[in-house]
Amino acid sequence: MDHTKIFIFDTTLRDGEQVPGCKLNKEQKLKLAHALEDLGVDIIEAGFPISSPGDFESVQQISRALTKTKVCALSRAVEKDIKTAAEAIKDAKYCRIHTGIGTSDSHIKFKFNSTREKVLERAVHAVKYAKQFVEDVEFYAEDAGRTDNDFLARICEEVLKVGATVLNIPDTTGYCLPHEYGAKIKYLKEHVTGIDAAILSTHCHNDLGLATANSIEGVINGARQIECTMNGLGERAGNTSLEECVMILRQHPYLGFDTDIKTQLLNQVSQMVSEEMGMPVQPNKAIVGSNAFAHSSGIHQDGVIKKRETYEIIDPIEVGVDKSSIVLTARSGRAALAYRLKELGYDVTKLELDAFYQEFLEVADKQKEVVDADLHRMWENKNELLSTFAKHSVKY
Ligand code: KIV
Ligand code: ZN
Repeated sequence: MDHTKIFIFDTTLRDGEQVPGCKLNKEQKLKLAHALEDLGVDIIEAGFPISSPGDFESVQQISRALTKTKVCALSRAVEKDIKTAAEAIKDAKYCRIHTGIGTSDSHIKFKFNSTREKVLERAVHAVKYAKQFVEDVEFYAEDAGRTDNDFLARICEEVLKVGATVLNIPDTTGYCLPHEYGAKIKYLKEHVTGIDAAILSTHCHNDLGLATANSIEGVINGARQIECTMNGLGERAGNTSLEECVMILRQHPYLGFDTDIKTQLLNQVSQMVSEEMGMPVQPNKAIVGSNAFAHSSGIHQDGVIKKRETYEIIDPIEVGVDKSSIVLTARSGRAALAYRLKELGYDVTKLELDAFYQEFLEVADKQKEVVDADLHRMWENKNELLSTFAKHSVKY
């Protein structure tokens, strides 16, 4: 089956870096930009050049360094911002300016003290102005999630007329439900004249934990670019997580979409982002969390030992994890204990396993996890364990 390509627009270095405490220096940004390029992302939003001289230089450095990935710079719908963004990316092999303005009534009234008509004018002017510098101009309608669909369609149509190549429909506040976000994308597909000439993009925030679901629903309804970050980093509760979207599309091929991401690098890049930003990945994080392929209950462990697919929908190797892990806890059964002992090179008889298991449960009740050192110790004390077990068995 031929798959439609979904463009991956990574904003780890811009929206992701807005997380308090995640500030990166230029060297770190460059290192991550190279890693993201190797991962296969199509577009990197490298920064917001007007925001500081350091950010400008960083975007400039990344623009000069990347050879395959398009470098994008963010700006508000303000000439000075756009000019500075253009200057920062001018040496890039492939480049894009991302400009836009708040379009919801809330943003129009409270942020700009303005009117829909004036915002429309500013949007059109910004895109026209950006087109003087680059061919590829992406327009964002900030807070599109809460923007009236008719007005959103109108603004999209007007910016398309002056050359916008990508229309970004951000759910800036993470407010939408998946079916609402999908319906918004569908509405634009059906009501904006000329929409097929542009790429519709999702940019979802995770305030209600729906960023990934909303992005996928956007794709199903016609979006062809997902804006996302590694580990789901981003403002407040974060952005859509790159690794989740990529693996959802890969795991559901019948949807008919795929990306160019080299999934075997996902874990490595996730760890690099986590280390450079000093932001640990939660253990239960989908795809890249340390528990994503760890099994601790006896029933699951028994199933996975018999056949991995009983409790895993992704082969860990596909995302750069060597293998699934069996974590030995008080919930583990004999199968898991025998499996780990065998991995350590200890072949135990049925009787030995029973004796070890009795000791194992005592240790497991005292500590959260039974580790290899505990098993080595049990093996060294094998005879003692067997005799205790024999006495115990006679007694009961
Ligand atoms: O969330 C948002 O709306 C943004 C825009 C600047 C694209 O990050
Ligand atoms: Zn955002």
